[in-house]
Amino acid sequence: MTYLKPIPMKYRIEQPGFPRGWYCVAESRDVSGEAMLPVSYLDQQLIVYRTQDGTAQVADAYCPHLGAHLASHDGAICEGKITCPFHKWQFDGADGSIVDIPYTKVMPPASVKLTLHPTREVDGMVLMWYDAHGRQPDFEPYASSKLKEGGYVLYEERQWETTCPFRDILENLFDTAHIQQLHNSNNLPDVLETAQEDFGLRVEYAMTGEEAVQGMTVRLSGVSLLNQEFRGQGWSTVFVHSFTPIDDERFLQKTRLYLSEMPDPALYDMIGKPFVERFVFEVEQDLKVLDYKKHLHKPKLCAGDGPIMEFRRYSSRYYA
Ligand code: FES
Ligand SMILES: [Fe+2]
Repeated sequence: MTYLKPIPMKYRIEQPGFPRGWYCVAESRDVSGEAMLPVSYLDQQLIVYRTQDGTAQVADAYCPHLGAHLASHDGAICEGKITCPFHKWQFDGADGSIVDIPYTKVMPPASVKLTLHPTREVDGMVLMWYDAHGRQPDFEPYASSKLKEGGYVLYEERQWETTCPFRDILENLFDTAHIQQLHNSNNLPDVLETAQEDFGLRVEYAMTGEEAVQGMTVRLSGVSLLNQEFRGQGWSTVFVHSFTPIDDERFLQKTRLYLSEMPDPALYDMIGKPFVERFVFEVEQDLKVLDYKKHLHKPKLCAGDGPIMEFRRYSSRYYA
């Protein structure tokens, strides 16, 4: 096995840039109305919090007055109002407007406010809308009806920071040849149906080579969220995957595995453990290659390579 040093993205993709879409910037459980959560994604410094009515909100971390980071020092949120640590300007967290400036009665124009990003809360994640040209959302992310109705428990979570070209991570799902060649797996999914949906793409699979799993449904919201449902006899699992660029060089891949509630607690490990082990094994194997790969604009594909170009036709619409 050879060891490669990280290879800068400029050698591996011509136009980096982030595609338009919904990006997970926090787990719901980490977001509150009592403290701002500072995060750094999409080459931006952001804060995530809850407004007074409990709605999750993502905003630019920097105060429009003189650029203090709102979550630095004693910057605070209380009853939906955010107070900057520097000159104590106070903002309404729900619309970003200035509520109070303690040392003047002369208010700046209404256009001076916090920059808020369109935000959704779906499947235990807080999502932020990103569009390189600042356009408003033109689709909604998929929300799992299964998780919404309840009856599922969070079994395990994993995350990886990867240096794969962002454009290529989901392509892996459609690259069927590597499943046998890289992962040595014969568990090849057969595509039954591919459908365009409001949120993006839905693919129905039949599983061959594995008796326990009867079927799989994959739902892609744009190119940043992936919901994967597996069905077996008397159980089902939901994988919620998110892919969020940190900057041009790397992104965070996060996976949560939910299992349908089962009568016998021992069943969770029986069903969940093999899923997690197989999944972690395959991701880590993938990343040994993907973290160094180049995005080939015109790959030289051959018969048996899987619907890679179909996926590219789908994904290209999200790029500026
Ligand atoms: S920088 Fe925020 S109040 Fe001055
Ligand atoms: Fe893979």
